[in-house]
Amino acid sequence: MVSMEGKSGLVTAAGDGIGRASALAFAAAGATVLVSDLDDDAGQETVRLIREAGGTADYLHADAASESDAAALVAKVLQIGGTLDFAHNNAGISTATKPITDQEGAEWERILAINLIGVMYGMKHQMRQMKDQGEGGAIVNTASTAGLSGSWGLSPYVSSKWGLIGLTKTGAIEGSSAGIRVNAICPGATMTTALQHWSEEVPEQFQQVLDAIPLGRGAESEEQAAAVVWLCSSAASYITGVALAVDGGMTIPR
Ligand SMILES: NC(=O)c1ccc[n+]([C@@H]2O[C@H](COP(=O)([O-])OP(=O)(O)OC[C@H]3O[C@@H](n4cnc5c(N)ncnc54)[C@H](O)[C@@H]3O)[C@@H](O)[C@H]2O)c1
Repeated sequence: MVSMEGKSGLVTAAGDGIGRASALAFAAAGATVLVSDLDDDAGQETVRLIREAGGTADYLHADAASESDAAALVAKVLQIGGTLDFAHNNAGISTATKPITDQEGAEWERILAINLIGVMYGMKHQMRQMKDQGEGGAIVNTASTAGLSGSWGLSPYVSSKWGLIGLTKTGAIEGSSAGIRVNAICPGATMTTALQHWSEEVPEQFQQVLDAIPLGRGAESEEQAAAVVWLCSSAASYITGVALAVDGGMTIPR
């Protein structure tokens, strides 16, 4: 396991799924972690799990779409850990599938506000702080395999994730002179609560998705988290601007 000893940072949407696994993995690697979410009970439970395992964490309520919340998260990390060394901008939502001919602007605006513009606010305040500290830093954004291809009925989600990869690459260029690395992970199907429900509701459809994955199964959240922590660690010191597919080979061109 890589070491994040002495480092501190934040994870958004860390009350469940990939975000919770990421917060737990950063803490297990020795970091001080600020957990944030909209759901306070879920976020506090992540903190409890970290502390139970001997790690150091705190919680702050934050809406991933809000610029003032993004700034507050950075301030809180400084309060609990002294420096902002890493950030995992993980929050992202999707909606029911619907073709472009039936799309509504309001739904697009909501998805873009959380999945794309909110990450820009996060990066804005995180990169300002990292530049002020003068010792570099690492940011990982959670994109998706949906940001690497098209997908029927998911135009707002797909567009937000393609945009997020563009934001990541631009952040990598802008942060490079200050030693700030910015990368994205592109998870494939990952066995979070929502996906677990989906697999139970439509098992045949779910099996078809799994059958299309070369490794033959969905990812565990911990497998996404391992990639995030590694990208933020010194083991990935020469990697920036990458959109890393963590997808069991799902996006291998065939
Ligand atoms: N699960 C997958 O298969 C999968 C695949 C590709 C990409 N992703 C991406 O991974 C990220 C996490 O997905 P997940 O499936 O682990 O999450 P999830 O749906 O399990 O939700 C995680 C947390 O997000 C919180 N949340 C929702 N809206 C929020 C907001 N506006 N601000 C703060 N917190 C908010 C929820 O309260 C919840 O605790 C998302 O960006 C998602 O697009 C997931």
